[in-house]
Amino acid sequence: MNVGDRHYRTIWLNKDGCSVDIIDQRWLPHEFRIVTLRTVDDIAVAIRDMWVRGAPLIGVTAAYGMAVAMAADPSDTALDAAWEKLHATRPTAINLRWALDEMRKLLRPVPVGERAEMAYRRAAGIADEDVELNRAIGENGLAIIREIAAGKKPGERVNILTHCNAGWLATVDYGTATAPIYLAMEAGIPVHVYVDETRPRNQGAQLTAWEMAGHGVPHTLIVDNAGGHLMQHGDVDLVIVGTDRTAANGDVCNKIGTYLKALAAKDNSVPFYVALPSPTIDWTVSDGIREIPIEERSGEEVSLVWGKTASGEIAQVRVSPEATPAGNPAFDVTPARLVTGLITERGVAEASRSGLKALFPEH
Ligand code: MRU
Repeated sequence: MNVGDRHYRTIWLNKDGCSVDIIDQRWLPHEFRIVTLRTVDDIAVAIRDMWVRGAPLIGVTAAYGMAVAMAADPSDTALDAAWEKLHATRPTAINLRWALDEMRKLLRPVPVGERAEMAYRRAAGIADEDVELNRAIGENGLAIIREIAAGKKPGERVNILTHCNAGWLATVDYGTATAPIYLAMEAGIPVHVYVDETRPRNQGAQLTAWEMAGHGVPHTLIVDNAGGHLMQHGDVDLVIVGTDRTAANGDVCNKIGTYLKALAAKDNSVPFYVALPSPTIDWTVSDGIREIPIEERSGEEVSLVWGKTASGEIAQVRVSPEATPAGNPAFDVTPARLVTGLITERGVAEASRSGLKALFPEH
């Protein structure tokens, strides 16, 4: 998507053919910084410390991590070590394991002298595929927005609530939950987005709001607890969120707080959709609540909040007593029964094993 008048993806290979550049998301919305990652260690840190984040982008970055590792040492030992190092960075988003498995499966039978070139080619392919998948998700989600708009008076806006950042910053381009919104804007459908701030790291306030502002999408930032109230008063037409891992039974794991939005949506008959590319489906998990590992992050993310001071410094402030311990489960699981539909690249699936199977019979 464009930043100013320049088109960016969130990650790209440099002209040197080995290092990758990323948008360092820790500084948004205050500063747009690009950093170069040269080693598998650089890439592991960037994923673990959330310089890049969002399930699809984590996967693509890890794929480049495997390529960078192969450029340094294409041996079997290095291949396995890179897989382990990158896999240990974040536990919940399944796209990470999907991309790492994809790379290792491809590279293992290849002669060592050819591995690096093959790895860069496949990493670039995964990045390009992500863009295509998101574009297709956008088309399928657009049909839902169009239908809601058709039931409204001419010019009346479609109000969409989203949680966390499942935008272009969470993918290579377009985003998953945001792709239908961007396409609706292009199609001239009046939309308005309620952006959950998404504590503790504020991906909504910092990233989704930045995206919406940058692309001229009318939006309003709300605190995480406001969604239920807005739904009770008819202010939300639909919810669209992303997911870090969707179980084969349609349970959806996403940023902490998503489950509460789904409960409120159900209670108020507001459609609750989840947008996902197929690499986000974990076909080995049949019960999302019991089987998906939930990342527990540092309590400091709850007690200390990043922001920009009046003097222009980007700094953290403490919001709780020093002595108060904080818990920080980063994701939760929304049971399939609360999900209206799964917007995939192949169409909208019912959130169930049979619904997913109907669209992806090869699994
Ligand atoms: O912890 P994050 O910022 O990586 O969490 C991101 C999310 O929860 C997104 O909603 C999810 O990855 C889907 S992104 C298309």
